Parts: sequence; structure tokens; C-alpha cells
Amino acid sequence: MADDEEVIEDSETEVKKSKKKSKDSASGEKETPQLIDIPGIGPGAVAKLEAAGIFDLMGLAVLTPPILAEMAGMGEAAARKAIQAARKMMDLGFSDGLAFAEKRKEIFNITTGSKNLDNLLGGKGIETKAITEAFGAYGSGKTQLALSLAVNVQLPVEKGGAEGKAVYIDTEGTFRPERVRQFAEGMGANADKVLKNILVARAFNSDHQILLLEKVSEMVKDGEPIRLMIIDSLTAHFRAEYSGRGMLADRQQRLNRYMHQLMKLAEQHNLAVYVTNQVMSDPAQMFGDPTKAVGGNIVGHSSTYRIYLRRGKKDSRVAKLIDSPNLPDNETVFMIETDGLKDVEI
Ligand SMILES: Nc1ncnc2c1ncn2[C@@H]1O[C@H](COP(=O)(O)OP(=O)(O)OP(=O)(O)O)[C@@H](O)[C@H]1O
Ligand SMILES: [Mg+2]
Repeated sequence: MADDEEVIEDSETEVKKSKKKSKDSASGEKETPQLIDIPGIGPGAVAKLEAAGIFDLMGLAVLTPPILAEMAGMGEAAARKAIQAARKMMDLGFSDGLAFAEKRKEIFNITTGSKNLDNLLGGKGIETKAITEAFGAYGSGKTQLALSLAVNVQLPVEKGGAEGKAVYIDTEGTFRPERVRQFAEGMGANADKVLKNILVARAFNSDHQILLLEKVSEMVKDGEPIRLMIIDSLTAHFRAEYSGRGMLADRQQRLNRYMHQLMKLAEQHNLAVYVTNQVMSDPAQMFGDPTKAVGGNIVGHSSTYRIYLRRGKKDSRVAKLIDSPNLPDNETVFMIETDGLKDVEI
């Protein structure tokens, strides 16, 4: 496994260009302090840190002085000061409930297109600074929901969007521009414009899938108003690559790290993250639905909202919310139609 890790590290540094101080792009956001803002950390040190995979204050704040000293080619005393400064600037620690509530006001919601499904998710669809996971069998609607969100994120806030762009990390080659056109035309939008605001990348393996997150971070810092990141599918590559006996622990560890990276990105840049996940049969489940999500607890515990999708009566889709931190477990029904996700009387 050590070899594997090295390959990842190497390719990460290759992709990284050293950057100047960059601003937080998106409208109305406060500027987040950057590495360069830390006393004692000059452009040379920033380049070295970035080459070592450290891009933000959090990365620096968790280092120890000897490690930072070596990484950035600086003395230990200076390294200690820099770490302390980073911790101070980051305001690590507790915030009171009111401050927490204020922070939650920054959150955007993105409508799914179906009022029923939006209500299941608390009223307004999926939210930024959170990971929403949809898991279900083939054809259950995971990709359709992804495409619908990629269109809706572009809507103005009062219409259920976040006036932002979407990033679509496609691991299975199932992104369909024609389908996006149908959704866009369904809401009377210019389909070409809508497609231009969806930045699609095909991820060829799990390493590539992981690397693309850095790319997204760079795009946000370069000013792309990205509000939604889709990973369709989250687990397919991991599942295919770590299929052997005895590989499960490694797979889970990498998935775990990936989920943490996703959450960090969601929080840092105020993005909604929507991931899809397959199900596998669970022979232990004799009654009820004999399926469970790939990645199990690791993915489940890291997702803020989890929806289980399945086909229902008369071509409808049933969505069930599972283990939400603030909403009741509940079920609803919606339809996938040519021009969008629609409601069904329930
Ligand atoms: N234009 C359309 N009009 C109506 N329904 C459609 C249309 N396109 C796709 N669908 C429905 O969506 C289904 C496919 O759903 P989707 O691609 O979201 O599945 P998925 O959950 O992503 O499956 P997989 O695990 O294979 O990726 C089709 O079987 C069909 O029922
Ligand atoms: Mg799909």
C-alpha cells in the first residue's frame, strides 16, 4: 500500500501549480486567510507547503513545529510561531449557539425540482456545507436527480437555486448533455447557457477522482462561482479497484479520507456536495429490502443527508430519508419525467 500512497502524493504535486494569494471568489463571502497571510510564511515557503499537499490554514495548524520546519525549510522557532498564528487565525474551538446559527444563514439550498423531495430534505432541497448521498439500485434515479440539481443550482435564490455553477465528476460516463437540455428546456431556460455552467470531468480511476477535488478547489479560488459538486458515482471505482479479499480495510480507509476531503471542501467553499452510491445485496437481511449501500458506515456517517431511492408504483420513485441529524426519517414519492422531476399526489 505504501507504493500506492506514493503514487498519489506524486501525482498530486504534479498537478499543483504554486499559486499566489487568492481570494475567495463567490459573492459576499468573507475572505479566508491564506497561508501567505501567516507571519513568517513567505512565497517560497508557500510553494514548498503546497508541493507537500498543504494548501490552507487547517493543513498547517495541525502540523508539529519540526515537521513544518522540514517541509518549509525554516527554523523550528519560526515554525512554532507560524503554527500558533494559523491556529489563532482559524479560531479553532467552540462557537456559541447564536454564532453557529448565524453561520448557518450562509447556507444555500438547491431544489430537486420535486416539492415532495424538497420537503423530505427539510423544505428546500439539498444544502450547501453538507453532503447529500443518494443510494439505490440501477435505474432508481440517482443520476437523474444529479442532472436536475446541476440545472437547478443555476436558478436565482428565490426560485430555489444558488445562482451558481455545478461541477460534475462523472466516474461512469453517464453524464448526458441531452438530458440536461430537456431539464433546462422544461424550465424555459437557454439550454446552451445551462450546459456551459456545468463543468464536467470524467474520473478514470479512484486516484483521479481524488485528484479532481484539488482541481475544484483551485477553480473556486480562481473565481468560479461553484455551488454544487456532484460525484456520480462516489463508490464505483473504489469498489472495482478494491474488490479482492483483504482489501476492504484499505478501501474503507481511502473512502473515509475522501469523504473528509469532500466535507472540508463543502464547508470551506460553501458548496453542496451530492454523491451517488450503489447498493449491494445484503444476505443478512431476510425481510424487508435486501440491499445496503456500498461503503457502509464510512460513507453513511460522513454524509449529512442520505436518501434511499427505489422504484415505486406506476413508474414513480420512492425516496426515503435515513439517519438525518435534524429531520425525521420519512418517505416520499416523485416522478422522473422528460422535462424534470415532478410531484405525485401523496
Ligand atoms: N427522458 C426521460 N423521461 C422519463 N424518464 C426518464 C428519462 N430519462 C431517464 N428516465 C428514467 O430514469 C431511469 C434512469 O435513472 P438513473 O439514470 O438516474 O439511474 P441510476 O440510479 O443513476 O442508476 P445507475 O446505478 O445505473 O447509475 C430510467 O430507467 C428512466 O426510468
Ligand atoms: Mg447513474
